[in-house]
Amino acid sequence: MLHITSSKIALNNNSRLVFLHHVVNRQLNSSSGKGGGDELSPAEAGRLGYQLRKNLDKNSWNESSLSLSTLLSHAGLSSSSNENNNAPLSPPIELATTYERPADGNYGEGGLIYSRSCNPTRKLLETAIGKLEAGHGQTAPTFAFSSGMAAVASLLLAQKSPVKVLLPEDVYHGVPTQLHVCLNDHGILHESVNMTNVHDIRQTIEHHLESKHNIADDGTLVVWMETPSNPLCQVTDIQSICEFVNDMRSQKQNSNIITVVDSTWAPPVITRPLLLGADSVIHSGTKYLGGHSDVLLGTISCSPNKTGKSIAQRLKSVQTSIGAVASPLECWLTLRGLRSLHVRVERQCQTAMKLATYLDGHEHIVQVHYPGLESHPHHATAKHQMTMYGGMLSFEVKSESMAMAVAGAVNTIRRATSLGGTETLIEHRASIEPPERRTSPPGLLRMSVGLEDADDLIHDLKAALDIASQICHK
Ligand SMILES: Cc1ncc(COP(=O)(O)O)c(C=O)c1O
Repeated sequence: MLHITSSKIALNNNSRLVFLHHVVNRQLNSSSGKGGGDELSPAEAGRLGYQLRKNLDKNSWNESSLSLSTLLSHAGLSSSSNENNNAPLSPPIELATTYERPADGNYGEGGLIYSRSCNPTRKLLETAIGKLEAGHGQTAPTFAFSSGMAAVASLLLAQKSPVKVLLPEDVYHGVPTQLHVCLNDHGILHESVNMTNVHDIRQTIEHHLESKHNIADDGTLVVWMETPSNPLCQVTDIQSICEFVNDMRSQKQNSNIITVVDSTWAPPVITRPLLLGADSVIHSGTKYLGGHSDVLLGTISCSPNKTGKSIAQRLKSVQTSIGAVASPLECWLTLRGLRSLHVRVERQCQTAMKLATYLDGHEHIVQVHYPGLESHPHHATAKHQMTMYGGMLSFEVKSESMAMAVAGAVNTIRRATSLGGTETLIEHRASIEPPERRTSPPGLLRMSVGLEDADDLIHDLKAALDIASQICHK
C-alpha cells in the first residue's frame, strides 16, 4: 500500500495547490470509507496521479508549448495519454474504402463515407504535418497526395483559370515538364524568372499586374518558389517575396496572386514557409518526410490566412474529385518517418557540411553548391530562413565524362535518383533531364547525404575523384 497525503504533492502555484488539496482529500476520504485510512492502492494512486495531472494541465497546457522535436516524436499519437485504454502507440492502418451508412441515412457531421474523400490514417498524417507547418499550436489545413507531382498538379488545377505560373529558373525539372506535357494545353501557362533576385521578381509581378491583360484580375498569378532549388541549391528569400505579394494583394483588392513554396529540400525542421508568409507549402513526402526511400507521397499545407483558406477549400474539392490521394500504407509509413525526421535531418545536415567543405578544397572540383558555405551567393538568406543548411549539395567537375567517371567509381555512395533517405546517393543530373529542357551543367553531380559516417563518405569520394582524374587526364 502506498501512503499518499496532500502534503506530498509539491506544487509551486498556490491556487492550484489549494485545488489539489481538495481533490486529494476528497479521494482520501472516499477511500477511507473502504477502510483504507489515508492509504491508496497502487492502482488508485496511478489513477489519482493521472487525474491530478489532467486537472493541472487543463488551463495551462496546450500544444504550442511543445517543441518541434516533441511533436515529431509523437506524430500520429493521440494528443494526450489515456487513463483506461490500452491505446496503440503506433496508429492502426485503416484500409477500408467504404463505411456502413447509419439507418437514418445520415452519415452525420464528419462521418466517414468513402476513402477517396477521407481516410483516418491519411487524416492522422495530414494533422501531424499541419501542426508542424502552422506552429503556435495551430493546425494548417493539409492534404496528402499520391505523389509530390500529384500535389503539384492538384494545386495548379485548383486555381481559377487562366493561370500564369512564375517558375524559378532552377527548379525540379518535373514541374516544367508537367506544365509542358499536361497543363499548358489547359490554360495553365508558365514563364521562368530569376527567383533569387527579389528586385527582379517584384518587377515581374508588377509588370503582370499593370499589363492590359492582367492575369491576376481574370485568373490567377502563381508565384512558385523552390528553395533550396534542385539541383543548384539556390536559395529564395521567401519572406521578402511573400511580403511584397501580400502588399500587392492589399493594394489591388481583387487581384488573385498566390505564393507556393516547394520546400521538399528544407523539411519543417529546417524551414516553415507558412510562418514566413507563404500561402501554401508543398513537399514531396517521398523524400525527407518518409525518409527511407520506400514511400511515394506528396503534401500541401495552406496558411490560415484568407488566401490560404480559399486555396484549401478548392484543393479539397479537386483532390476528392480526381482521386489524387495517398494510400493508407504510404500515410502510415510517412507518419513513422516523421517520428525520426529531426534526428535524421540534423545528422544529414552536419555530414553535408563536412562533405561540402571537403569538396570545396579539392583540386579537381570546379564549384560546390551548398548554402552552408560562406562563399555561397545566398548564404545570408539561407542563414536567415533555414535552421540548418540541408542534406543536399551538388558539385561540378570539369566535364561530363569526368562526372560520369566519379559516379561510376563510388562504392559506399549509391548511384540513384531521389533524395532524403538514409543512404547517400549521387546522380549525374543533366543526363536524366529531358534533353529539350536540360538545365544542369554537364559536369554537375548531385548528392543526397544519408546517415553513414562522414569519414567513410569522404574516403569514398576521395577514391572516386582520384580514379576519375586518372581516367580523364590520360
Ligand atoms: C523539389 C521536388 N519537388 C517535387 C518532386 C516530385 O515528387 P514525387 O517524386 O514525390 O512526385 C521532387 C522529386 O524529386 C522534387 O525533388
